[in-house]
Amino acid sequence: MSVLELTKESPRNAEMVKTKVAVAKGDGIGPEIMDATLRILEAAGANIEYEFIELGEKMYLSGNTAGIDQKAWDAIRTNKVVFKAPITTPQGKGYKSLNVTLRKSLGLFANVRPVETYTPYVKSHFPNMDVVIIRENEEDLYAGIEHRQTQDVYQCLKLITRPGTERIVRYAFEYARAYGRKKVTCMIKDNIMKITDGLFHRVFDEIAAEYPDIKSESQIIDIGSARLAANPENYDVIVTANLYGDIISDIAAEIGGSVGMCGSANIGKEVAMFEAIHGSAPDIAGQGIANPSGLINAAVSMLAHIGQADIASRVKNAWLRTIEEGYHTADIFEEDFSKKRVSTAEFADQVIAHLGETPRHLSQSQLNSHSDSSIHIPDYKRKTQQKELVGVDVFIDWSGDDPEQIGDALSTITADRLRLKMITNRGVKVYPNGISETYCTDHWRCRFADLSDDQKKKYNPIKHIQIIDLLTQLHEGGFDVIKTENLYEFDGHRGFSLGQGE
Ligand code: NAI
Ligand code: MG
Repeated sequence: MSVLELTKESPRNAEMVKTKVAVAKGDGIGPEIMDATLRILEAAGANIEYEFIELGEKMYLSGNTAGIDQKAWDAIRTNKVVFKAPITTPQGKGYKSLNVTLRKSLGLFANVRPVETYTPYVKSHFPNMDVVIIRENEEDLYAGIEHRQTQDVYQCLKLITRPGTERIVRYAFEYARAYGRKKVTCMIKDNIMKITDGLFHRVFDEIAAEYPDIKSESQIIDIGSARLAANPENYDVIVTANLYGDIISDIAAEIGGSVGMCGSANIGKEVAMFEAIHGSAPDIAGQGIANPSGLINAAVSMLAHIGQADIASRVKNAWLRTIEEGYHTADIFEEDFSKKRVSTAEFADQVIAHLGETPRHLSQSQLNSHSDSSIHIPDYKRKTQQKELVGVDVFIDWSGDDPEQIGDALSTITADRLRLKMITNRGVKVYPNGISETYCTDHWRCRFADLSDDQKKKYNPIKHIQIIDLLTQLHEGGFDVIKTENLYEFDGHRGFSLGQGE
């Protein structure tokens, strides 16, 4: 059964059948904040059966470089809901980030991070901030495909896919609709990355048109994040690619004054994982002073997700009331705002004592179990397009520094009608007609195309065998070919960027 189906259970069924959840207590402050949170859930009447799993440091140090064993995988895949305290990734080579492994292996495509402020009870410059960042969680520069190609040049592949983008953008609009939000802002850098971020922007526009009830806008990520930091109250839901989302969600949490307070959800088609956004805080571990609020807020999202929204609201309202009453852990304690500096366990006691109450001034939480289950992401349907090979970029390792020299040498090589069109170095055209100020590395991108009836614009179709012939000649000519990228058109649309100045 998928998570989405699970949430559709009727309340009566939910009462009878406990929802099983895989729980990892984590490392550092993990066990302290997890114990506090589970006590609150128990007292609030959450209808959950826990299956405890071992993840993280202990696993790593026992020689498991992934930080997770088969037993934990089985429990996660059977239960489909994971509640996870932060774990410590040991420093040093060979240890893989378990968070990245979990997200990618389980297809947790959406990272949902709500950031709210609780002024005047918790200090922040932004009293009216209430932003949800929806970050694509699997693609982009996090594909982990990196290569060193020459003495001087290192490369990381940025992969943006149409199915991945459609999924995350649709999720953002569905989320906005389900949670009564008014606007979705897309943040990208498509003025520079016209093909990858350009796709993200285009898909955003396509899908936004299907949601006329929700406002939509796009901003370039640099000015977008600056505006988010200056006026977060102008944002509602933000959807963005993996790396940008990683950065702006930390900015949002930090300016909200509440890194210890935010929870996050990692949502997949089958599995969902809920956790605090902070790490295992080894500097304060074992002292009983950590703020369990991030994990409590993650638990609230989890309860809503598994169809127990009434319990979720009960916990959230008691938590809001506790914050209002001024029972604060050390990280948010302020003489002027707080009543008592409490330990992790005392904070949990206060939340339990306030169960059944609602906040007096902060807005009351009214979660709805139908919100999550109303989110439906259709399966991706690939449209068939006509793909035509029209050229090849050959990357050559050459330690000379005069583009004319390599350009003239390559101009003598032809494979059928395939011949050198231009050379770029770090993306800037240096041949023909480069300028002497351009700095050149040892990494030359040499574009070959059929220019026979060329008006210097149109690329003509070519055949793979011409590329093989070209590579043979380059090899025989003593050129050190690093790699090739084929140039394609899809339904007549160029599928590659032009060189700067091409
Ligand atoms: P961190 O978030 O653990 O700590 C940063 C600072 O915030 C520390 O001063 C810490 O004391 C404080 N802090 C964090 N959570 C708090 C809380 N609930 N209450 C009070 N203060 C809190 O980040 P750091 O130090 O960079 O990472 C520590 C370890 O956590 C590393 O091994 C890292 O890999 C891991 N980590 C794990 C994550 C996860 O499991 N999702 C996420 C981020 C980091
Ligand atoms: Mg991060």
